Order: sequence, then C-alpha cells, then structure tokens
Amino acid sequence: MQVKRRADYQPPAFFITNVELTVHLHPHSTRVQSTLHIKRNGTHQHDLVLDGEQLNLVEITIDNQTVDHHKVTDTALIIPSVGDEFILSTVCTIAPDSNKALEGLYLSNGVYCTQCEAEGFRRITYFLDRPDVLATYQVTVHGDKKVLPTLLSNGNPVDKGDNDDGTHWVKWHDPHPKPSYLFALVAGDFDLLTDTYTTMNGKQVALELYVDKGKLDRGQFALDSLKRAMKWDEQVYGLEYDLEIYMVVAVDFFNMGAMENKGLNVFNSKFVLANPATATDEDFFNVESVIAHEYFHNWTGNRVTCRDWFQLSLKEGLTVFRDQQFSADMTSELSNRIKHVRVIREHQFAEDASAMSHPIRPDEVIEMNNFYTVTVYDKGAEVIRMLHTLLGKDGFRAGMDEYFKRHDGQAVTCDDFVSAMQSVTDLNLTHFSKWYSQSGTPEISVTRKREGDKTLITVSQRTPATADQQEKEDLFIPLGFSCIDATGQQYQDRAGKVTNGILLLDQQQITLTYDQQESELIPVVLANFSAPVRIKQSLDSTELLAIFLHANDDFNRWDALQQLYDWCISQYEANQQVDETIWEGLKSALSSEKTNFELLSECLIIPSFETLCQSRTNINVETLNAAREQFVREFAERFEPELLAIYQSISLADYHYDQQDVIARRCKNVVLAHLGRLQQNSELVQQHYTQSDNMTDTLGALKAAQQGHSDPFNALMDSFGERWKSDPLVLDKWFSLHATTEREDILSHLTMLQAHPQFSIENPNRVRALIGSFAFYNTSGFHALDGSGYEYLTDYLINLDSSNPQVAARLVTPLTQWQRFNKHHQHKMKTQLARLLEQEGLSNDVYEKVSKSLAYESSAE
Ligand code: TRP
Ligand code: ZN
Repeated sequence: MQVKRRADYQPPAFFITNVELTVHLHPHSTRVQSTLHIKRNGTHQHDLVLDGEQLNLVEITIDNQTVDHHKVTDTALIIPSVGDEFILSTVCTIAPDSNKALEGLYLSNGVYCTQCEAEGFRRITYFLDRPDVLATYQVTVHGDKKVLPTLLSNGNPVDKGDNDDGTHWVKWHDPHPKPSYLFALVAGDFDLLTDTYTTMNGKQVALELYVDKGKLDRGQFALDSLKRAMKWDEQVYGLEYDLEIYMVVAVDFFNMGAMENKGLNVFNSKFVLANPATATDEDFFNVESVIAHEYFHNWTGNRVTCRDWFQLSLKEGLTVFRDQQFSADMTSELSNRIKHVRVIREHQFAEDASAMSHPIRPDEVIEMNNFYTVTVYDKGAEVIRMLHTLLGKDGFRAGMDEYFKRHDGQAVTCDDFVSAMQSVTDLNLTHFSKWYSQSGTPEISVTRKREGDKTLITVSQRTPATADQQEKEDLFIPLGFSCIDATGQQYQDRAGKVTNGILLLDQQQITLTYDQQESELIPVVLANFSAPVRIKQSLDSTELLAIFLHANDDFNRWDALQQLYDWCISQYEANQQVDETIWEGLKSALSSEKTNFELLSECLIIPSFETLCQSRTNINVETLNAAREQFVREFAERFEPELLAIYQSISLADYHYDQQDVIARRCKNVVLAHLGRLQQNSELVQQHYTQSDNMTDTLGALKAAQQGHSDPFNALMDSFGERWKSDPLVLDKWFSLHATTEREDILSHLTMLQAHPQFSIENPNRVRALIGSFAFYNTSGFHALDGSGYEYLTDYLINLDSSNPQVAARLVTPLTQWQRFNKHHQHKMKTQLARLLEQEGLSNDVYEKVSKSLAYESSAE
C-alpha cells in the first residue's frame, strides 16, 4: 500500500507524443496493438517504466527490433537503456468480460466500454498513464459486424471497412493532444439520435446520442440539453466546441455519473434517459446538469488539463461551478443554491469531520479513486464561487480568459489557475489560496455588545483541527453580511467595512461599529452562502423569525427557518416543549409566503437527520430521530388545514418540464409528504398516486405514503413494482424507497430484494439504490442499537469489494463517520470497520478509508 505525495511530483522521464492503437474486440481475449512515439525528457539515463496492470504482453519491439531485456511486474513494464527517441510497439491481450471493476475496458450487457479516469488506461495497454503526458491518438477498432455495428473512439472518424471474416473496422483520429485518462472506446448495438449544432463561428458540429435499443423516446431531452450547454458556454465564456462531432453514449454499467472523454462522453444511463413517464423533475434537472458538466469539461479539463491528480479540483471544482451557474440560468437561482448548500452541509462538512478530511487539493493519496469527493468537487466549486464573488462577473471572466490564453493545451496546477486570476485583480490571492491547502470547516462566530451610543458586532474565525491537519491559519473569507432590526430596517456600519453586502474577513477578527438603536440589531450573516463555513451565533426564535420576515437575501431567510426548526428539535431532544408563540410565529411566517411556491417548498422541508447531525456531537441516534419525528408529526398536525389549502390551491395541467410547473409540483409534493403522516389523509395520497400522469407525482405519492407507514404504502409499492418490473432505472427508485423504509424486518427485506430478478451486485446503480440508500438514509435501520445494520453493510461490502472496489469504498463512508455518534454506536461501528480491515485481499480503495478511520482519534471524543 503506497502513499503518494503531492510534494514528490517529478516531471515524466519520457514523453509520448503519438499513439496508434488497433483493437480487436473479443469477450475474453481482446487484442490491443499499440505503437507509441516516445521521446526522452532531458538528458538522464533512466529506464523506461510504463504503467500496466492485468495485461498479458504477447509482443514487444522497439523500432521494429525485438526486445528481450525488458522486465514485466504486476504494475509495470520496464525497459532499460532505450534511445532518446524511438517507436515502441506492443501487443497485449485483455479480458473485458471478466472485468467487474468497470475500470479499463469492460463488457457488460453486450456493450464494450472504457473508463480510464483516473488510472484505467494502464489496464488497456502499457503507457505513461499520468495526466501530464499528452499525445494525439489514432485508433482503429475491429469488431463483429452483426453484434457490434457501432465502433466508436475519440475525435473524428476518418476511415472504415469490412474484413472478410464477418468483422468490420472504423478508424478514428483525435487531433487534440490529450492525457490517457480521456481515451475512450465504445462498441455495441445502439439506437442513435442525431442533430447538428452551429457554433458561434458558423462551424457545423454533428451531435450523436447513443442509447440502448428501444430507448430512443428517452433521449431527446439530453440532446436538447447539450445544445443549450453549447450555446451557454459560448455566451457566458466565449468558448466554442473544437471537433466535427460530439458523441454521448448511455451505458447501464457505470461507476460514477459520466465521463468527459474527448469528443466521446460516456454516461451512466440514469443521466441521459428521461421522459415524463419514467423520470422525475429532479431526474430531468440532473440530466441537464450532468450533460452540461461533461460538455464544459471540454475546456476546463480537456483543453486545459491537470498536471497530476492532486490537482483534480482544478478541473472538477471549476467545472462544477460552471455547471451550477448554467443550471441556475436554466432553472432558478434560489432552489439551486439551497440544493448545493444541503450537499455541503450534509456531506462535505461530514467529510471534514471524518478521518478522510482533506483540502480541496489533497496532499497524500493511496488510491486516487477515493479522492473524487464532495470536498474536491463541491467545496472546490465553493472556492471558485468565492473567487467569482470577489472578482465580480466581469473580473472573473477576464481571469478565465487569461487562464485559457496562458494554458490552452497544457497540463497545469491549481496555483497556475490562481495566478491567472491574480493577474486581473488587486486583491491578495496569495492569502486566498490557503483555501487550496487547508482542510476543515471554518467556524465564524458573531457576537454583539452594547457600548454607550454604539453597538459593536465582532466577527471572528477559527478552523478546528482536522484528522489530517492540526494547525490551522486564518483564511480570506468573503462573508455576506447585513444588519437589521426587528422591524426589518437596514443599518450600515460606521466605518463602511461592509461593501456591496460583503464583509472581507481577512484576519482573525473584525469589529463593526453601529449607531445604537432602540431595538437590538440583528446580524444577518452568510447571504447566499457566500463561503463554505459554519456560523456560530446565538439568535433567539424571535430574531430568527425577524430574519425570515425581513432579510433581503432569500437564502438567509430560508436558513433562519432551518435554524429555528433545528432549535425546536433540540427542545424535544431535551424533553422540553416548544412554546405556543413559536408555533404561532411559524404559522404566520409560512402563510406570508403561501403563494411563493419556490421559497415555500424549501421552507417546508424540515432539516434531515444528516443535517441535524452537523450541529451536534455525541449523538444518541434514537433520541435525535425520535425528536425529529415528534417535531414533523406535530408540524403536520398543527398545520394540516393550511397545508391542505396549499395542496388544493395548486392545480397543474398536463405534464411539462417547465420551470413554473416544476416549482408548483414540488411544492405540492412537499406538502403532501407532511399530510401523508396523518392517517386521515391516506385517501388523498392514494388519489395523488392514481391521478398522476408523470413520475414526479407518482414518486411524490409513494414518498408521502412512506411517511404514514404501512398503509397504503405497501399496496402502492406493490402496484409500482409490478408496473415497472422490467425497467431497472425506474425500479431503482423503488429499491431505494424500500431500503429507506423504517420497519422491524428491514434486513430480511433487503435480503429478499437482492433476489429480485432485476437486482445484480454487478450493477452499481442497483447497489447504490438498495444498499447505498439503506446505509446513508435509513437512520433507524442502519443505526439499529444492536449493530445489526452495520454488520449487514459490512457483510455486503466484503463481497462487493472483491469485484468492484471503487463502489465498495464509496459505500463504506457511513461507517467511517462514527465520530459523530455516542460511545455505544462508535463501538459497534468500529467493530465492523475492524472486521473489514482483517479481510484478506482487501482493495487499496477500502483499505485506505477503513485504516484511516480506525486510526483516527477524534477530538470530539
Ligand atoms: N471526470 C468525471 C466527472 O467528473 C468523473 C468520473 C467518471 C470518474 N467516471 C469516473 C472518476 C471513474 C473516477 C473514476 O465528470
Ligand atoms: Zn467532472
């Protein structure tokens, strides 16, 4: 198990400038013939060391001469004393049909498909499999003409033909030098949807979307989304597409969301296939945003790529930020912002608090696949967003222009990105760049003090130590800040330190001075979630309600109510009451927004168990879960008439995925989820299900029924399961609902579902839907007091790890968050982690996370 360090980076000893591949596809003996043009980098005398794993080398020549002094290990091909420039040819065979890890070239459901990021190309042929080695590729794919009519690779198709043994071939050329992780090859029998796009400079681009046979009616939305993304990148960033053809392939077996291979994106089918009958509004949203994300990578990732994998956030943080901007433009700002804040608070803050804590640019890695994290992606995007806030829209665009001007065609670092930004601003980005090296969640404290004729508000920062870093420094934080009183009047500080609603907290603390007012001033902090930080401030329920009623920023308004809900739940945890006046305040606050469906739906969502965990330590799962249940139940009982009135005020015509309808439909379903807790509404829920003409409402009804337990939930689930029994993507929603249901016999229920004809441990979507939903979201089942939930997950992971380590390592996450819980749970969780660690042949992926977790002595203890 070898740790790799960012500080140890060395440029490659050799460059590979041109690659020619000829691939003859065969289920258990695919032949990969590779011809590499190699040049020594500098004047050293090092051996040529190429990466390679699970390859069977059958031929090797240099400049057409047989090689016999080479050495083959489990992970490398080593050739001593090579020249300064030469042609290396190898032939290897590989077995795609036994590849269940879904890395490299694999065959599933009759489709050949590659996944090379991060280090999968080395499972296809011997290579310098690192992102700073850029080459042009010419790839010829041979395959059976009947079984594999479609043969694809990167770039433009340049030639094709038939062989006389029933096979055919297609030759592809990608003129843009690229790292090996962007290589792709796909072969199969697909249905094809085509279109064209004319770029801002009038170039015609062919668009091709490949889907499973019979699924054409689910492809149009993705194709339209692609065109919207292409147009948006031209309009907002002046970036144009650079090949004659752009292909997207949807596959059913995929470890992640999608992959930005140059000119040939490969997608998890769940992020391509969507029509109103099978996809929810949320699915449509996700398709559009993932399509955009992969498209935007063409510039932020492909044209400018990463020097090494520690720089992953260079492309991912930036591309997530870009896809978030795009989605906000296509849909709406507020609900997007809240969605991302939920991800940060529920998952990223939890990662910071765990043994896996790392900066957005990690310093140490055992298995790179473990670092495709919410920290690198989502906190990375928050860091870019702060730059955007600091530089302003035009300043940020100027910085991006400079970044492309300097680095197009290069493999660069996060520091290179920040320098490009620095060249267009006077702000001190050296200080700002600590966000790249420091891990952890900063805590911002806000305190108030009256002093004579003034009020002093002190804002200070502190980042608690994390598992990976003891010492923390002060960060450069743009903090949304304003000050109101109970009537909503706004105040400005005497020195004008808050400008354009932002306080630049660039030191440990800053004190703001305000003229003394009759009523107490209320600081409104973190407008629009301007930084990925936690706020520590004691506001009482009246002040939180005042913020909800009067603050300018809708994020602040929503957040104030979330804090109030959190406070109410902690009252119940402590066996206390929630005052009548608070319920009254809540009622009038919510009814003041009863026609603003967008804000209202968000405000009607009670913080999840996972979010509540973030403001607590030493968690007693049973108590917290029961307190939350008590609160949501009382919420539904008290507000039933108002909720029913909202439900009835929303009526929608035939289904359209259109922003206004989406917002109204969401509100209706959020309201129904509350109503569904009350037995007397079971008929309403049933009716919602029966009358639904779309998947959003159907699923809304099921979720509402799930809140009410057993009846009519079981009957509706049976009907749904029967209706969709041959549609695995839809069935995933059903698996996931089953897995998150609170029931005594949940474990035997899960076991029964694993025997469903559509379930397969080899398919990551199925595994995530069933096992992942259970481990991440079934609070009472997973955290069962006797530890049976933990044990169940562990048994499953031991099995899964032997075929797909990448997915197993992701699903181990809930167990590695033991430090949140009380001793009882901690002990049971660590017992299972220890059992995992004892497994013989454990993957690097699972080993890295489990061993770190067990070695971590939490400061929370
Ligand atoms: N680069 C991909 C994205 O962000 C992520 C990805 C897809 C990936 N497949 C993967 C990362 C497999 C690691 C392994 O869009
Ligand atoms: Zn990405």
